[in-house]
Amino acid sequence: MAEIDLLRSLPKTRRDVASRRAAKTAEIVRVASRFGQEYFDGPREYGYGGYRYDGRWVPVARDVVAHYGLRAGDRVLDVGCAKGFLVRDLLDACPGLDVVGLDISAYALANADARCRGRLVRGTAEFLPFADRAFACALALDTVHNLPRDGTVRALAELQRVSGGRAFVRVDSYRNAAEKAVFEDWVLTARTHDSPDGWHALFAEAGYRGDHCWTIIA
Ligand SMILES: C[S@@+](CC[C@H](N)C(=O)[O-])C[C@H]1O[C@@H](n2cnc3c(N)ncnc32)[C@H](O)[C@@H]1O
Repeated sequence: MAEIDLLRSLPKTRRDVASRRAAKTAEIVRVASRFGQEYFDGPREYGYGGYRYDGRWVPVARDVVAHYGLRAGDRVLDVGCAKGFLVRDLLDACPGLDVVGLDISAYALANADARCRGRLVRGTAEFLPFADRAFACALALDTVHNLPRDGTVRALAELQRVSGGRAFVRVDSYRNAAEKAVFEDWVLTARTHDSPDGWHALFAEAGYRGDHCWTIIA
């Protein structure tokens, strides 16, 4: 298990935390947590404010392929694939890779990139419909923290099971009280979040031995 930022090439997200704090209501949290149209393509206070392909995953896909030494014929799983943008860029980064995405959102899958047709399935990270060690690598970016704690443990155990530990997750974290306060102002959908030490304990509880990095709003 290693901490490695395979997402280092992504553009830095600009977050207007004060506006989010002022706008956030229980109703917005409820609607965002359905992962429907509002969350992906509605106003910014409900989530992304427009989840569109812009090529940002191209260098990430290259880094994933290089880090895990992926080759044509290998199978890769992206849990929480949303509209399949990383699936698409993994297909391009390594021709012959067999890439599969899974997401709970019917809206995201219905509006997925056309190049992912036949590769995306609807389901939950807690119960992956795949055999043990079916994948050379499994990814879950900003996804497993959207479950309550017991579900997050199950999802991490599932990632371990289907990948044999060749896995990578990014999860919401904070290193001190100030970062935690900013996170709590910003968060809409994450139900499990903790300090890095808390996450390490959770990884151990799940038997998750893959790699990780943090989303920290500094
Ligand atoms: C913050 S978005 C991240 C999307 C994508 N991985 C990315 O980094 O751009 C979280 C994604 O997880 C999906 N999701 C939430 N709960 C899930 C669950 N229990 N199982 C699978 N996917 C889930 C949402 O529909 C959404 O696509």
